[in-house]
Amino acid sequence: MKLGHIAAACLSLALGTSALAQQPTVLKIGYATSKESHYGVGSTVFCDEVEKGTQGRFKCQHFANSALGGEREQIEAIQLGTQDLVNTSTGPVGNFVPEVKIVDIPFLFRDYDHARKVMDGPIGQDILTKFPSKGIIALAWTENGFRHMTNSKRDIVKPSDAAGLKMRTMENKVHMDGYRTFGILPTPMAFPELFGALQQGTVDGQENPIPVILASKFSQVQKHLSLTGHVYSPALLLLSPKVWNKLSDADKKVFVDAAKKAAVAQRKKVNDDENNGIAQLEKDGMKVTKVVDGAAFREALKPAYAGYAKEFGADNIKKITDVQ
Ligand code: PAF
Repeated sequence: MKLGHIAAACLSLALGTSALAQQPTVLKIGYATSKESHYGVGSTVFCDEVEKGTQGRFKCQHFANSALGGEREQIEAIQLGTQDLVNTSTGPVGNFVPEVKIVDIPFLFRDYDHARKVMDGPIGQDILTKFPSKGIIALAWTENGFRHMTNSKRDIVKPSDAAGLKMRTMENKVHMDGYRTFGILPTPMAFPELFGALQQGTVDGQENPIPVILASKFSQVQKHLSLTGHVYSPALLLLSPKVWNKLSDADKKVFVDAAKKAAVAQRKKVNDDENNGIAQLEKDGMKVTKVVDGAAFREALKPAYAGYAKEFGADNIKKITDVQ
């Protein structure tokens, strides 16, 4: 081979190697609803910010609509390192990090302002520090929203209207203990099975925030929506330690800052859906009960609250309700 050819071969090898070195790391991110939904909006902002902040060294591949399984399965995959990121409700999270369970108590938060203040304040931030010892990195609280009941049988104004309904719930004992006091028959089920179960009448109803009811087109399989707002459903952006442990300190900051921006965008989408989505669901044929007897639901919950006080400490619950 002539000298010129050898030089050219070396150059192209070097260029090839540097091109290889510049290949971005592709992170798999999963969530339950569509890319246009609140989870998709938050996840997209996160991924765009990470890509920008790392000069394209990291990119995401989105797996919307539960393409990687239910939220419990995805959290397990995060621990194993077979999935990089999940934007998930706290539904199954307390089974991994018990300190999370307290924020799943029904009627704990007065409204969105209260909930967001607690999650972003010392109480919520302290809970995030409990994740690494369970093999999960919690980058930030995002949001699913206040949950409302839908069903195929009747309007729900007070607990006695809900009594006897077979309702799909998340795999969350705190919720189930509370919902039993309303007389509901809680049926825990992974979210990907829910649409079919509603369609086939295996369950009468379910409860989820407006953004989920919209994105999942539950208006096609449920007639009645009652704005019970019976529990706030926080969400989290979780990362696998397999990714985190390889990041430089500067990249770790990029990831955390990106997650905070994702939370802002996700919460804004929740607000927008709360403001515009109910009218849309009515147009889609749902009968919406806007005024419910919140006091009667709270009264019914009293026995469950006695259990929560025992499990989590009345003082700790009060610390949350006292946040103004
Ligand atoms: O009902 C659930 O399981 C959750 O609210 C969902 C829809 C998976 C979103 O986090």
